[in-house]
Amino acid sequence: MDKLIIFDTTLRDGEQAAGGALNINEKLEIARQLERLGVDVIEAGFPCSSPGDFKAVNLIAREVRVPVICALARAHPDDIDSAWESVKGAERPRIHVFLSASDIHLLHQLKKSREQVLAMARDMVARARQYTSDVEFSPMDASRTEPEYIYQVLEAVIKAGATTVNIPDTVGYAVPGEFGDLIAGIFENVPSIAQAVVSVHCHDDLGLATANSLEAVRRGARQVECTVNGIGERAGNASLEEVVMTVKTRQNLFGVTTGINTEQIYRASRLVSELTAFPVQPNKAIVGANAFSHESGIHQDGVIKMPITYEIIDPRTVGIPASSLVLGKLSGRHAFRERLAELGYSLSEEDFSRAFAAFKELADKKKEVTDRDIESIIAQELRTVAEVYHLDCVQVSCGDRGIPTASVRLIGPEGQVLADASLGTGPVDAVYKAINRIVSVPNELTEFTVKSVTEGIDAIGEVLIRIESEGVTYTGRGADTDVIVASAKAYMNALNRLIAAKKAG
Ligand code: KIV
Ligand code: ZN
Repeated sequence: MDKLIIFDTTLRDGEQAAGGALNINEKLEIARQLERLGVDVIEAGFPCSSPGDFKAVNLIAREVRVPVICALARAHPDDIDSAWESVKGAERPRIHVFLSASDIHLLHQLKKSREQVLAMARDMVARARQYTSDVEFSPMDASRTEPEYIYQVLEAVIKAGATTVNIPDTVGYAVPGEFGDLIAGIFENVPSIAQAVVSVHCHDDLGLATANSLEAVRRGARQVECTVNGIGERAGNASLEEVVMTVKTRQNLFGVTTGINTEQIYRASRLVSELTAFPVQPNKAIVGANAFSHESGIHQDGVIKMPITYEIIDPRTVGIPASSLVLGKLSGRHAFRERLAELGYSLSEEDFSRAFAAFKELADKKKEVTDRDIESIIAQELRTVAEVYHLDCVQVSCGDRGIPTASVRLIGPEGQVLADASLGTGPVDAVYKAINRIVSVPNELTEFTVKSVTEGIDAIGEVLIRIESEGVTYTGRGADTDVIVASAKAYMNALNRLIAAKKAG
């Protein structure tokens, strides 16, 4: 059986999703989880796009040793040199060069002829090849490009040293039969095609990214580019979990295997959702909250008698815990440590002690602490950015009479105690205004969501916000059994990110 190479671009195309920016520590944490998941290639970023991206690719290249680490570059000498600089410390580095190929892009964007573009593609692949023997080339907007021209470009770049040729459906325009025919045409019409791996990269503008990728696999593609939870530019990319679980569940149809440890899928999904602050829709295939819950009586009856009646995948295969009711206030360090290990966390002693203290505090307020609560504790305690301002206390008065009022106390950068108060249109508005009076960094709140982590009146409330400053979006997360406190924590989290980014220039 052929191996299907899983190329994960969560940290590059996924991060391009509007409002999905991640900091360097978050990127490293996701990269480590992708390694546990067993992806073959991690596209860690686009180094020339910003100094932050360069640093993140460079760090991941040094720290994550098993998968190939790939850096994206435009077909431009500086881009390629910078991609190499960032990725050269990797055990197995790859440079991914891309250049538009469709007449639409050539005419309206590049303002270059087909001949000029072909020469650029060939020369820049050759330049990348001087650095590494693992070079990928993508003719951007391939699905809207005349196939004859794609064949010529692919032949030229393979001769120049490309070892993977990737066919992007950049604008999500293709439909499965047609996209499959394009892939089959490439095998038939590019003389040197056997010297390269054929890859596909599909966007989901028509909701067909997974279907197009799978059809390409049926027609011979052996690398699929995808993202966890399908996040990505605009409507997103093909979803890793859908592609992987389809070829596994319908192995007889596809005749390929992957190196994915499917039991890590759920954890990867939760982590990416948590860190990007993009919730997973409940009906999302494989990882949605309802993906394995049976509501109708007939279905429930069938599943109790024999799961295969209505379940094509055992939820444990994708790492969904069999039971989620776990700990309570009498649970000790040992039980907490064991549960963390079962959930896949291995913490340093110091981090463990902080997480355990937070667990104890929560268990005092909440009867049953579930896996989702534990994930929330980890997100809150261990993934906070280095704080410039720390929320020390928050107090509100509100109701249907009187004006909502908030007072807050923060600990400032030099350890000084800073307190202020404000009125607002509601309690959250009052809290944010009081914080603004102290921190005074201009920004606009663009998104605010609150949801409960689990069921029950004592559930933790998780607040996700986005704020914008000078055209850049920063996310903030906060969790607490009191949603006003969670809102204040989320705002401080976003503000600290903003301040750190401004400091870093
Ligand atoms: O969608 C696209 O065309 C891309 C390329 C850079 C591969 O993301
Ligand atoms: Zn893309």
